[in-house]
Amino acid sequence: MARGDLPPHEIADPALSDAGQARIDWAAAQMPVLGSIGARFSEQRPLDGLRVAACLHVTAETANLMGTLRAGGAQVALCASNPLSTQDDTASALVRRHGVSVRAVHGEGPRAYAEHLRELARWGPDVAIDDGADLIAALHEDRQRRSTGKGQGARRPLGATEETTIGLVRARAMHAEGTLAFPVLAVNESHSERTFNDRFGTGQSTVDGILRATNVLLAGRTVVVIGYGFTGRGVALRARGAGAHVIVCEVDPVHALEARMEGFEVMPALDAAERGEVFITVTGARDVLRREHFERMKDGAILANAGHFDVEINLDDLRSAAISPAREVRPLVAQYELPDRRLNLLAEGRVVNLTAAEGHPAAVMDISFALQALCAEDLVRRGGELEVGVLAVPTGIDHEVARLKLESLEVRIDELSEAQREYLRSWEGGSTGEPIR
Ligand code: ADE
Repeated sequence: MARGDLPPHEIADPALSDAGQARIDWAAAQMPVLGSIGARFSEQRPLDGLRVAACLHVTAETANLMGTLRAGGAQVALCASNPLSTQDDTASALVRRHGVSVRAVHGEGPRAYAEHLRELARWGPDVAIDDGADLIAALHEDRQRRSTGKGQGARRPLGATEETTIGLVRARAMHAEGTLAFPVLAVNESHSERTFNDRFGTGQSTVDGILRATNVLLAGRTVVVIGYGFTGRGVALRARGAGAHVIVCEVDPVHALEARMEGFEVMPALDAAERGEVFITVTGARDVLRREHFERMKDGAILANAGHFDVEINLDDLRSAAISPAREVRPLVAQYELPDRRLNLLAEGRVVNLTAAEGHPAAVMDISFALQALCAEDLVRRGGELEVGVLAVPTGIDHEVARLKLESLEVRIDELSEAQREYLRSWEGGSTGEPIR
């Protein structure tokens, strides 16, 4: 593959582009911040001629980010961060109308998924935009392969951005091991991402996914939320808002205390297993629900995962506890029959808000993807000078995104006066407001 060529695309059906474009336009109307960044990018072309590779959920919201990067002058290639969230029509519109090379097919198997990642890594991107750190890992594997082989060495990207908590855990593990070879901007930990994405985005869309898949009434039901980080808080809040009685399970004592003080019942997952009717894992850890939990659950319990990877519900345990293979009782609902109860697993234990619903609403992704676009620009501007490691998103970017969002909502806010700024800069004032002499 010569430098300058995009990797070849691979999508389900090029004929779906009209439907895909309609989705992209619908989402764009809810993404004014990204739209205004796109308008600036097309004038200033900050990414001119650069290669940007992204591994993201292939959704209409992502398509709008791809369009913004294209407006900035980048060549763009995209693969999926989860095979079940890929919208084939969106992928088709991206290829046919936006000049983006997409390598993603809804429901693709692990081999195809990995091959698409490898293809993007081989392309040698200048900037990588990631959701789960699979692309970051693939870029490092590519570097390792090339350094041990006889071929050309891999070009070092200027840097990457990472959208998820678990992706940053992986990037930090790579850095601790001495493997990480370029800077990674921690978009997931920026103030605005934390505040809106996890709480409002995952909260609403997780409940949305469970309702779409099952059509159960949440009012009066007991919902167990396992994990009370930023995302778990959002899920618990929305489940309560829908009328459910919510039990929280958590390993971090501070988070557990916070849940209790927010009015949730808190207990170990084994105890909650007997009480719950709907279980939602959102921890980032593996085997959160396993055989010992399944054997205590009520007949008809619903199991959903809202964490990034499909490791939180132990599927081997579920299969081996069942007396027969699972039956699909509704689309995205697999029923496992245990000797004395039936358990309903949603979306194969994959992240339910993206597999059974459409992920975070566009108005939330507007913030995340505005951050991603500005971070990509920042990596191009400063990438050569940045140290290798997992780095904070500059506060200026956070503030710029929140300011643009407020502007789009026609919300005005106060500014500090110079005297207030001076007061906040000084340390001498204390409780009297005067220096103590
Ligand atoms: N992550 C969560 N929701 C998403 C969406 N709608 N599009 C892309 N990535 C997402």
